[in-house]
Amino acid sequence: MRAPILFLLLISLANGGFAQDVKKEIEKYQQMVADSSPVELFELQGEILWAKRQGPNNASLEQCDLGLGAGVLKGAYAQLPRWFKDADRVMDLEARLLHCMGTLQGRSREEASKRVFGNEDQPSEMEYLSAFVASQSRGAAMAPGQAHAKERAAYALGQKLFFFRAGPWDFSCASCHGEEGKRIRMQELPVLSSPAAARPVVATWPAYRVSNSQFKTMQWRINDCFRQMRMPEPAYTSDLTIAIATYLTVNGKGEPYRGPGTKR
Ligand code: HEC
Repeated sequence: MRAPILFLLLISLANGGFAQDVKKEIEKYQQMVADSSPVELFELQGEILWAKRQGPNNASLEQCDLGLGAGVLKGAYAQLPRWFKDADRVMDLEARLLHCMGTLQGRSREEASKRVFGNEDQPSEMEYLSAFVASQSRGAAMAPGQAHAKERAAYALGQKLFFFRAGPWDFSCASCHGEEGKRIRMQELPVLSSPAAARPVVATWPAYRVSNSQFKTMQWRINDCFRQMRMPEPAYTSDLTIAIATYLTVNGKGEPYRGPGTKR
């Protein structure tokens, strides 16, 4: 299904189509890709996992409180990251899921997270669960917590980290995501400190990546950009990664959630 569209795209390029035409064709291509994306399969698999009894307690995640009450899924993802009283910590979706796997299912953090970012051919529970939970916020405006002091501190830390240069290349996030019109291998690099660019990004993660046929979470995205910066990879769901996710999501707040998205 994809090949003929690429072909069309090439033809329009060969015809010397103006930049506008090319842009339109790329948008058309993205739309077609989205229409045939397998995101729904991940959502369905996640729904099954959500209700699956596992761990020493032989319990499901159905009573997990994602911020709006035990078991409330509708709109919950759109209000993350947020501060949770029971953990006295700002958490993103993946941190909260790990928390519930511990408290409800009795699983250890090591066991529950051991397969994340691991086997590329076999997604972990986090990819499936993220797809399912996020899908339950479609249409809800992104509204991460910013009322609690720890939420505001997370934003401030995330902002600092975004512009903090370090590592062998002395890169910050802003080195790649700080200037309009920057690209790497045809990938547009959104200026994530600006609401206009952050809004469509936070409204479409987690996402399916067509280039390697995998479903990816926001924790993975942040981790992979650290890797691209030749920096040590941060610990999964660490406060540092959640601070960055908070910063990005607050920058993009107000945008109706329309993911899980489909990326190139
Ligand atoms: C060396 C350049 C580079 C640096 C530095 C970098 N990134 Fe990225 N980032 C990329 C590239 C390239 C992509 C697009 C990848 C793709 O499409 O496969 C990307 C994509 C992203 C996306 C997804 C954008 C979208 O359109 O959905 C987010 C979010 C992101 N980066 C966050 C960060 C954060 C946070 C940092 C700092 C911790 C960072 N990046 C540092 C190169 C970089």
